[in-house]
Amino acid sequence: MRRPTETVRDPSAATGSTPKLSIQDVSKTFESSRGSVQALTATDLDVQEGEFVTIVGPSGCGKSTLLMIASGLETPSSGRVLIDDDPAGPPGPRRSVVFQQFALFPHMTAEQNIGFGLRMRGGLTRARKQELVAAQVETMRLTGFEKAYPSELSGGMQQRVAIARALVLDPEILLMDEPFGALDAQTRTAMQDEMAAMRSRLNCTILFVTHSVEEAVFLGDRIVVMSARPGRISHELSVSSDFEWKRHQIEHAMSERSFNELREEVWRHLHAGGTRRAVHDAPDGGHDDAPDDAPGGG
Ligand SMILES: Nc1ncnc2c1ncn2[C@@H]1O[C@H](COP(=O)(O)OP(=O)(O)OP(=O)(O)O)[C@@H](O)[C@H]1O
Ligand SMILES: [Mg+2]
Repeated sequence: MRRPTETVRDPSAATGSTPKLSIQDVSKTFESSRGSVQALTATDLDVQEGEFVTIVGPSGCGKSTLLMIASGLETPSSGRVLIDDDPAGPPGPRRSVVFQQFALFPHMTAEQNIGFGLRMRGGLTRARKQELVAAQVETMRLTGFEKAYPSELSGGMQQRVAIARALVLDPEILLMDEPFGALDAQTRTAMQDEMAAMRSRLNCTILFVTHSVEEAVFLGDRIVVMSARPGRISHELSVSSDFEWKRHQIEHAMSERSFNELREEVWRHLHAGGTRRAVHDAPDGGHDDAPDDAPGGG
């Protein structure tokens, strides 16, 4: 019988294919007047084309740093980032980022926000740009709110605008940093379902940081667990697409035994990483939905 999870250190070794995104030996130390902070120790992560990888870890373990390095917005202290085996270089349209705090322009309407990145894009007529924006408005169920300003939109709608703004660029790689973190519980659940449903229509590779173990399990093809500062990847689990709950909404999925086994397993690795204890010694009680409450390590 197939085990619900298995550890895969290097999926490219199994498939023999070139990873879409390859983070190789990447570390980051921030220097400031107060001294230096090692945010990330040498980290390797390969993401295959079309794969949806979720990252969980305690607060401050370097998840955002890793994502920003993957996006090109932050430079690593050592190591390199490759896309299709070539140096990724500075940020560009092949990679789009969705931030936790929406980061919309308050003085622009929803459609202006969505189309913002297209302004810099050459080779597209004005009509084509409008078409692309309109398609995103429809996909993200924002019809009727095209002319609304961010302050006139609900949190969920604002986040849908932020996602539309990233998707309109037709990125090969979508990098999402706790995109649903600022939403209320109900909106968040709706967005998680939407993300899962939309996924098959999205033609991109996704790296998704979250504080929610449930969200990581529900959305990820693979879950990367990071341990406390200085951050490193302590474990990876792959999630079989054979699970029936993969085709259900999250509320339903969470009542499935196999879902909960996976969730428990991720929590065990989070606790083990935080305390640097062996996995088999890890406690498994006292769960909530916030890995930053996992025992912190130095
Ligand atoms: N620009 C910066 N200058 C100095 N230190 C930084 C900078 N950005 C991040 N750090 C430090 O690097 C470490 C990792 O930060 P990072 O934001 O990547 O963590 P995180 O895992 O995303 O945390 P959270 O879950 O709270 O968002 C932290 O100790 C943080 O204080
Ligand atoms: Mg962060």
